[in-house]
Amino acid sequence: MVDLKTKYLGLELKNPIIVGSSGLTGNFESIERLAANGAAAVVIKSLFEEEIRMEYRHSLSKGLADQDSNLDFLDYFDYELKHDMLTRCSALIRDVKSRLGIKVIASINCSSAGEWFSYAAKLEEAGADAIELNIYRLETDVNMSAASISERYLNIVKKVLDHVSIPVAVKLPPYMTDTAYMAGQLAALGVKGLVLFNRFYNPDIDLESNRIVSGQVYSNPSDYAWPLRWISVLSGKVDVDLAASNGIHNAETAVKMIVAGADAVQLVSAIYKNGAGYLLDILTGFEKWMKARDFKDLEAVRSYGRSLKPADPGLFERVQFMKYFGDYSI
Ligand SMILES: Cc1cc2nc3c(=O)[nH]c(=O)nc-3n(C[C@H](O)[C@H](O)[C@H](O)COP(=O)(O)O)c2cc1C
Repeated sequence: MVDLKTKYLGLELKNPIIVGSSGLTGNFESIERLAANGAAAVVIKSLFEEEIRMEYRHSLSKGLADQDSNLDFLDYFDYELKHDMLTRCSALIRDVKSRLGIKVIASINCSSAGEWFSYAAKLEEAGADAIELNIYRLETDVNMSAASISERYLNIVKKVLDHVSIPVAVKLPPYMTDTAYMAGQLAALGVKGLVLFNRFYNPDIDLESNRIVSGQVYSNPSDYAWPLRWISVLSGKVDVDLAASNGIHNAETAVKMIVAGADAVQLVSAIYKNGAGYLLDILTGFEKWMKARDFKDLEAVRSYGRSLKPADPGLFERVQFMKYFGDYSI
């Protein structure tokens, strides 16, 4: 019998498989199916900063109503809709917490240090075990330096940490100039976990209809290489838990992430493509691999991973690059 238990963000998980924030985690019935098929935790479908800000303005408009009756510019129906989203998300968290035995991580997708932070506390109040912040912003300003982008990230995180007492994880974008530095800074602020990595929306051009259209939404199985690299680089180096995300499509890749030092893995595309029952296949495959290696628990798996690790990953990477690409010809 192998033991798949792990700890992520201070939460005891029965196994390392978390279903990531997506439409799969946006309603009770779907989450119930994921839980029945072995998911240890879910990250609830994100609330978007824009939605939360609208709710904030909604409350403000109510507060001002006595003094100023001319508030027609506030689109009442739109506000009701946004308010409803926060209420529905809180109700979903409450339902899942009280009826299913899995951990619930609320998610906020944000891009600025606005006035919406106190609403993170509402998700805590609803019973979320933790919060995941997905800071999603594509910087296109040619005058914006990497340092100021990092500063913006840190400001957003600081504000959220000021408003909640449950653990906070940050889902990082895959391409930052200073991923390692950011990981260290976020850990120093008090962030408990990093999710490596978010997946960007990819626009494409339809040459037939002359329109910009959505590119491929799901990840590819080969996408796991990038999070695998960074999990390996950061594990043991920063005092935060690490969840791997992006391109985990089978048991083998999930195993590799834990070998590299991840505390948990998040899956989305593989479940969209194969259904909730695929979680059981992944868990079975994971157990089978551990049994074949005689690993009793995940710590044994990580310890095996540490024995494979190069002392200096940066140097290792350069040497491998020279070896494989330095003299590559056809
Ligand atoms: C249809 C879809 C919806 C998603 N919605 C969200 C979301 O609301 N919030 C979020 O943080 N990530 C969202 N994601 C990103 C996933 O959580 C995940 O980070 C990404 O898909 C990479 O993991 P994967 O390779 O297992 O798909 C979404 C992904 C997909 C495919």
